[in-house]
Amino acid sequence: MIIGSVSENKEIEKRISITPEIAKKYISNGFEILIEKEFGSHLGISDEKFKQEGCKIHNKKEDVLKNADIILQLNLPNESYFQYLKENSIMIGNFNSNQNLDKINKIKSKNTSVFSLELLPRITRAQSMDILSSQANLSGYKAVIDSFAIFKKAIPMMMTAAGTISAAKVLVVGAGVAGLQAIATAKRMGAIVFATDVRIASKEQVESLGGKFLVVDGAENLETEGGYAKEASDDFKKKQEDLITETLKKIDIVICTALIPGKKAPKIITEKMLENMEPGSIVYDLAASQGGNSAYTKVDEIVEKNGVIIIGESKILNKLPSSASNLYAKNLFNFVLNLYDKKENKININMEDEIINKTLVK
Ligand code: NAI
Repeated sequence: MIIGSVSENKEIEKRISITPEIAKKYISNGFEILIEKEFGSHLGISDEKFKQEGCKIHNKKEDVLKNADIILQLNLPNESYFQYLKENSIMIGNFNSNQNLDKINKIKSKNTSVFSLELLPRITRAQSMDILSSQANLSGYKAVIDSFAIFKKAIPMMMTAAGTISAAKVLVVGAGVAGLQAIATAKRMGAIVFATDVRIASKEQVESLGGKFLVVDGAENLETEGGYAKEASDDFKKKQEDLITETLKKIDIVICTALIPGKKAPKIITEKMLENMEPGSIVYDLAASQGGNSAYTKVDEIVEKNGVIIIGESKILNKLPSSASNLYAKNLFNFVLNLYDKKENKININMEDEIINKTLVK
C-alpha cells in the first residue's frame, strides 16, 4: 500500500502532511511512502532526510499521484492534476469541504474517495486525529506571542528600583481550544487575563488556567450537543456588549478566537469599544477569515484606528509550520491507521465507524 503526498503551493501553505518521523512510522507499519522532490526543503528537511527514513522521491507531482493508493495533503491539489489520480485511491486532508464541493466532486468522479478532517466528530476516540484542535492550539499560542512581540510595553509586573511596571491585561474572546491556549500562554508570560465565551462549560476551564471569566448576567448556555457554540440571542449580545465595553477600557491586548461552525464569526468588538481603548493597544483577530470578531478587521492586514492596532490573521500556522506539521502529520497517521485493515492489507471504509462515516465527503 503506497502513501503519497505532493508539495503544497508553498506561497500559501508552509505545512507538510508527512514528516520524516511519521514516514518512519508508516513504513514500520508496512506502508511505502512516496513524496515529491523538495517536499520539506522550505522547513529545513532535505530529500536526503526522507530517503534515510526509507521514503521514495519522485520529481513530478503526476508520478506521485499515479502511484499512490492514499494521498495525504493539507489543501486540495490543483485541478490540472486530478487526471493522474489512481483508480480507487483515497485522499485525506483539510479540504474545507463545504466550500470546495465542486472540486471534490471532480475528484470523486475519478473514483477517489475524499476524507476531509474538519468534519471529524469531536468524540474521545477521535481526539488523536483532531486536526482542528491540534492546529487551533498552536494558533492560540502564536497569536499571543505575536501580539506581545509588537506591544510597546513589558508584559509581567516588574518592581524595580526605578519604579513599578504594571502587568499587561489581556482579554481572550472565545475560550475554545485556541482561546484556552492563548490564556495559558499569556498567563505564563505574566499577563492578567480575562476571557469571555457563550458556553458556560468554558468558565471552569478558564479559571483553572488562572484567567478571570466574564460572566454575562443571566447567560443561557449556548452549547450544542457537539460542544460547539450556538448563535447568541439579541438579549445576550447586548449584555455581553455592555460587559466587554466596560472591561476593554483597561485591556491592552485582545485575542479574538470566537467562531460558530458554519456561520460568520460573531462580531463582538465594536467600533465604539475600540474608541475606548488606549492608543498602542492591540486586537489580534484569529477569526479574520470568517469575517472577524472585531470591527475594522481585514484579512492579513494590519489596520490602525486611533492608535489601536487591529491585526487580521488568517495564516498564522505558516508562522510555526514545523510544529504545525508535526502535529498535523501525527493526526493523519492516526486517521490512516483507523482506516487500515492490517490483516487484509487494505483500506476498509467501514461506514459503521462514526469517524469514517462523518469525514467521508458524500
Ligand atoms: P470554535 O473554534 O468553533 O470556537 C471557538 C470558541 O468561540 C468556542 O469556545 C465558542 O463557544 C466561542 N464563541 C462562539 N461565539 C461566541 C460569542 N458570541 N462570544 C464569545 N465566545 C463565542 O470551537 P473549538 O475551539 O473548536 O472548540 C469547541 C468545543 O469543542 C469546546 O468545548 C472544546 O472543548 C470541544 N472539543 C472537544 C473535543 C473532544 O474530543 N471531545 C476536542 C476538541 C474540542
